[in-house]
Amino acid sequence: MAIGSGVKNPFMRVMAGETVSPPPVWIMRQAGRYLPEYLETRKKAGSFLDLCFNPDRAVEVTLQPIRRFGFDASILFSDILVVPQALSRNLDFVEGTGPVMTPIRADEITGIDGAGFHDHLAPVYETVRRLRAELSDNTALIGFCGAPWTVATYMIAGRGTPDQAPARLFALEHPAAFDRLLMLLADHSAQYLSRQIDAGADVVQIFDSWAGVLDEGLFERCAILPVKRIVDQLRGKHGNVPIIGFPKGSGSRFDNYRQKTGVDVLGLDWTVPLDQAARLQADGPVQGNLDPMRLVAGGEALVTGVRAILDRLGNGPLVFNLGHGVVPETPVSHVEELIRLVRAGDHGR
Ligand code: CP3
Repeated sequence: MAIGSGVKNPFMRVMAGETVSPPPVWIMRQAGRYLPEYLETRKKAGSFLDLCFNPDRAVEVTLQPIRRFGFDASILFSDILVVPQALSRNLDFVEGTGPVMTPIRADEITGIDGAGFHDHLAPVYETVRRLRAELSDNTALIGFCGAPWTVATYMIAGRGTPDQAPARLFALEHPAAFDRLLMLLADHSAQYLSRQIDAGADVVQIFDSWAGVLDEGLFERCAILPVKRIVDQLRGKHGNVPIIGFPKGSGSRFDNYRQKTGVDVLGLDWTVPLDQAARLQADGPVQGNLDPMRLVAGGEALVTGVRAILDRLGNGPLVFNLGHGVVPETPVSHVEELIRLVRAGDHGR
């Protein structure tokens, strides 16, 4: 596709509601352990957090999948948990375990004041600035944060849990403290995204990876209100910057998530049926939603999955993506095949 000066790149055109064929493509967690060059840089860095806070290395790993695959969008290399870390909660990434934090108690929440928040995150803003300068106009730069609920689940449990039971219980047993924590996270996340936009992010994505475990009452309180609060705060300052919401596993609650939160684009996980996805696409752009396991399997499983999405969603505003992050076991050759299939124009036939 010819892109003239002043014409937005394919990804940004979809963000604005246009249908682009073939659709732009990137994959969540595209900088990561399935790439040998990532593992090499990671080894040099010593720790995952050093990668996140060292702009030289963070820029390097962000660009690795862009150089290798030519994705239409690049995503800042960082983690959603740098926000609670910048609010003075300790954070460690333990090999084989993932993130480890000291579980927060209800009586500690009023004590969080956010002093030094942006100083702590300054290297991340520097990474965004350098990335925007290095990327071509054809590649969009996505900034991101975790949604307050998902970030809170790690702050409360102190680690990843299968069903986020500790945070669900905390929300019910300590409602005032919990709501205060969500609002505090929303306000700081909005500021964090705003700084990323000031530094050059073209779009932002809010990851609510654990939205799917909430009952109806908690969904409204924990997944809708705090995200709406972030969106409202960003609109005031950055009215034109598209916001992608990714409330993973939300099922039927995807249906009015866009309206209720105000996000522009819906990120869909792989469990969302394509009929539902097509209905959601009638209201605006969607992003997704190939099962990451199809990318691990490759072959027919990959071809069928990609074609089904392109057939059903390819005639509307679509960003092709996985329904969650790429896993370390994924063969690099399958990612190449994915891109070939998406860009074939004939739906890979
Ligand atoms: O997408 C990208 O390429 C950008 C970077 C990115 C990372 N984490 C790097 C990362 C993004 C957007 C995230 C978001 C994130 N982090 C989420 C939301 C999205 C999702 O995947 O659900 C969550 C829940 C986290 C918290 C987190 N970070 C966990 C639970 C883990 C451990 C699990 C795992 O995959 O190892 C991490 C570590 C992490 N974040 C890695 C990467 C590349 C692996 C760390 C390593 O190199 O050892």
